Amino acid sequence: MRHILLIGKDGQLGQELQQVLAPLGEIKSVGRDSLDLANPEAIAKMVAEVKPDLIVNAAAYTAVDKAETEQDLAQAINGIAPGILAKQAQEIGATLIHVSTDYVFDGSQSHPYLETDPTQPLGVYGQSKLAGEQAILSTQANAAIVRTAWVYGVGGKGNFVKTMLRLGAEREELRVVCDQVGSPTWTGDLAEAIVQLSQQINPEIAGIYHYTNSGVTSWYDLAIAIFEEAKQLGFPLKIQRVVPISTAEYPTPARRPAYSVLNTQKISAILGSYPPHWRQSLRKMLSKLAKKG
Ligand SMILES: NC(=O)c1ccc[n+]([C@@H]2O[C@H](COP(=O)([O-])OP(=O)(O)OC[C@H]3O[C@@H](n4cnc5c(N)ncnc54)[C@H](OP(=O)(O)O)[C@@H]3O)[C@@H](O)[C@H]2O)c1
Repeated sequence: MRHILLIGKDGQLGQELQQVLAPLGEIKSVGRDSLDLANPEAIAKMVAEVKPDLIVNAAAYTAVDKAETEQDLAQAINGIAPGILAKQAQEIGATLIHVSTDYVFDGSQSHPYLETDPTQPLGVYGQSKLAGEQAILSTQANAAIVRTAWVYGVGGKGNFVKTMLRLGAEREELRVVCDQVGSPTWTGDLAEAIVQLSQQINPEIAGIYHYTNSGVTSWYDLAIAIFEEAKQLGFPLKIQRVVPISTAEYPTPARRPAYSVLNTQKISAILGSYPPHWRQSLRKMLSKLAKKG
């Protein structure tokens, strides 16, 4: 029987992971209330208590803009905690799967980023996530770091898809950024990929992997797709027009990469197939959301 420790059970990815990891063994799922990643002693204590074979870390400080003024907290959770987890995993021979981000790149490239491409975060969140990757890689743990991007799911506090549905129900017109492109990624697919990877990862193939849904789009085009699909599914919508705007017209405290596309060839070779196209997965997620009501 495998013992699994899932950290970050209440996040949008964590909720999905709880379901797909459960059949693999005995799972201990913890949220911030029972394990605060900003507290190094608590991490060591939890790992010693659970003695897992597999640790999956879906928790993170994800408030990209707020991180600009909460640097120490972002660094503690995203930069330091993953290294402590990796050390603990190494000590007891456990496998660690950790989730990271496209924000480790500056987005100046114009072809999909490889795992080996140089990193250059644009803000505090990206810097803290990169520090977490480096802390894990500095240990000898059997660990996989899965970088993903533009994540959305049915659960959790919020994401772009749910925000568009809420605003589209209230307003006739929305202005959405059209000069940032990436690959929207459904937590359902990402969680399945993590489960498959967790069963295959070994010290020879430990390291960084890129996983997103296939295809490339802008936030503007994603908004259009959300409304098209949602209309067909009968979501209540007032929206009449989506207006494309530039990033310069929508300033935020943290800069975002303009080009966030990740090359998924490496993980696809291990999983045996490329990730589903983002539009197909968006449809699936919206159907689930519609059924949930
Ligand atoms: N969302 C995206 O677009 C995106 C893109 C690329 C990569 N990622 C990465 O994907 C992973 C999953 O993200 P997500 O979208 O599922 O994020 P999320 O919905 O914001 O969930 C993150 C979870 O981490 C928890 N957490 C925050 N601080 C904590 C602490 N000190 N101790 C323990 N738990 C803490 C949060 O708890 P509270 O709710 O109590 O704060 C929340 O449940 C993260 O590693 C993130 O960096 C996300």
